[in-house]
Amino acid sequence: MIRTSGLVKRYGDVAALDGLDLVVPKGTILGLLGPNGAGKTTAVRILTTLLEPDSGSAEVAGMDVIADPDQVREHIGLSGQNAAVDEHLTGFENLDMVGRLYHLGKTKSRDRARELLDLFELDEAGDRPTKTYSGGMRRRLDLAAALVAAPEVLFLDEPTTGLDPRSRVVMWGAIRDLVKDGATVLLTTQYMEEADQLADDIVVIDHGKMIAHGTADELKTQLGGERIEIVVGQPSDIELARSILAELCLGEVQVNEQSRHLTGAVDGGTSVLQEVLRRIDATDVTLLDVGLRRPTLDDVFLTLTGHIAEETTDEDAGGDHETGRALIKEEEVV
Ligand SMILES: Nc1ncnc2c1ncn2[C@@H]1O[C@H](COP(=O)(O)OP(=O)(O)OP(=O)(O)O)[C@@H](O)[C@H]1O
Ligand SMILES: [Mg+2]
Repeated sequence: MIRTSGLVKRYGDVAALDGLDLVVPKGTILGLLGPNGAGKTTAVRILTTLLEPDSGSAEVAGMDVIADPDQVREHIGLSGQNAAVDEHLTGFENLDMVGRLYHLGKTKSRDRARELLDLFELDEAGDRPTKTYSGGMRRRLDLAAALVAAPEVLFLDEPTTGLDPRSRVVMWGAIRDLVKDGATVLLTTQYMEEADQLADDIVVIDHGKMIAHGTADELKTQLGGERIEIVVGQPSDIELARSILAELCLGEVQVNEQSRHLTGAVDGGTSVLQEVLRRIDATDVTLLDVGLRRPTLDDVFLTLTGHIAEETTDEDAGGDHETGRALIKEEEVV
């Protein structure tokens, strides 16, 4: 239902999209993940006919977004990154207006508006002007508006950013219901958990390019399990500690010589931690600190993109983008 090929969009020197290829089969959810500025919104804007690419092609529901934007619009729903609701209308009036614009008819528009207000727990506030709504309420109303016409293809740009946990769960339920009825969804998110919960397929992008692609499980396997972090007392301790960690950890051990901080991914959690401690105890190495933690969203972005959110100026930091594996520079980890 969605297919892009070699999408490029430049703003001056910045390549917002740099050859993006996506395929989303009917009735599935694609999670488009990436740090700030990765190009997620740019991709959504092109696919929803709001922006033309410099080169490449894109089809939605079998129609070309550049040649047939009007037809594409008949088949899609969009909830943009910034809530677009009319401040002076009430929540009900906003949704009713969208229904009318989609030619649902008077009765159906009203019924649908009440139904969605109910679903997003806005029924009590439904008859108040939306200028009195909180940020999360506006966001929920905007999401409701995207669902009014039960579109075939739905684009949701960070649908749950700013929502409380309960509203997030409501949103996830609404998205799942739509997909059960045959809709196809592309959603962008900063939350690994959200992609994990919803997406059949996840594409991670950075600098406008795909850097990893797979199911949530496949990506997690790529990231490894928990992280062991230790801090040793002396610079002369580092080498021995590194070799002990290297025997027990997956992949490479990250070392920061200055802070004498060593980090390794492990599969086996506390039992590996105990073994590390036992082996270090049998040496002269002094341990200042030790810890075990689960991979966080920061780890996901660090591992896959080599940075969290900011542009990285150091050329080495980006790692090997071809394989989606990045070499993490220690200065960025600590
Ligand atoms: N209208 C514009 N003019 C100039 N640069 C732009 C414009 N729109 C986007 N960009 C740049 O293109 C890049 C991609 O932006 P985009 O909004 O697609 O990122 P994003 O992945 O949606 O980020 P976020 O997570 O912050 O929403 C950024 O470097 C951004 O500064
Ligand atoms: Mg964005």
